[in-house]
Amino acid sequence: MRLEGKVAVITGAGQGIGRAYASAFAAEGARVVAADLNGDSAESTAQAVRSDGGRAIAIPTDVSDERSVELMVSTTVQEFGTVDILVNNAAIFSTLKMKPFTEISADEWNKVLAVNATGTFLACKAVAPIMRANSYGRIINISSSVVVTGRANYSHYVASKGAVWALTHALATELGDANITVNAVSPHGIVTEIPRETISEEQWAEMLRDQALKRRGEVSDVVGAVLFLASDESKYMTGQTLSLDAGLRFT
Ligand SMILES: NC(=O)c1ccc[n+]([C@@H]2O[C@H](COP(=O)([O-])OP(=O)(O)OC[C@H]3O[C@@H](n4cnc5c(N)ncnc54)[C@H](O)[C@@H]3O)[C@@H](O)[C@H]2O)c1
Repeated sequence: MRLEGKVAVITGAGQGIGRAYASAFAAEGARVVAADLNGDSAESTAQAVRSDGGRAIAIPTDVSDERSVELMVSTTVQEFGTVDILVNNAAIFSTLKMKPFTEISADEWNKVLAVNATGTFLACKAVAPIMRANSYGRIINISSSVVVTGRANYSHYVASKGAVWALTHALATELGDANITVNAVSPHGIVTEIPRETISEEQWAEMLRDQALKRRGEVSDVVGAVLFLASDESKYMTGQTLSLDAGLRFT
């Protein structure tokens, strides 16, 4: 029960890895807010947590919309009293089409940056006053190994996750005086229940060649590190990005 008594907001919790964070956080005692653009999927996550005996609510949220993010936070405070933990997991990811950067329209670029990067910024901005008032907070941003590898035909996504990585360092320096830690994880090649077009079988084979651990990742490979960053086990650690990448850089 490492998160007993804590309130955790998890964006993009309607499916995939975000849904797994929600279940794991609730199992560790947190009251969980499943926030997602898809309100039905957020509700399904919250219901799954509740049927396992945990406490969770769903809040339909568009993280790229400042008012929606403010409503997400004010509703959380209304329902659960405060916000202790924020996981910025929502992203345009599994629906993304890979294409050369010369074929990415400015609109498409802006949309990906608006959700993945600006959405992270807006959620941090909205929880900061509450965490400051509590002199306590844990913010975990979800970046990606593509920031290091620079994966081709993915430039909007790579840039958005680079912004998330850099923002983590910047906010750690601004929030440290209030005992708020800001860390990130950069996962690589995690299989979820959601099919996606962005990794072909050929690309999986290439990825495995570049990894020290020769297998595809699964959600249980990332949940533990995020739990660690959300708990007091990581209380003297901020501004860091943990690579959850099967040893990508060591091959
Ligand atoms: N799966 C991987 O291999 C992998 C690798 C590196 C990083 N990541 C990152 O981990 C996170 C989760 O990955 P996943 O595989 O579960 O992704 P996913 O695409 O399955 O899920 C993303 C979730 O975000 C939600 N979302 C999208 N736009 C939103 C918005 N504007 N406001 C609120 N919610 C919104 C979606 O509805 C969805 O529930 C993402 O940030 C992703 O970039 C994943």
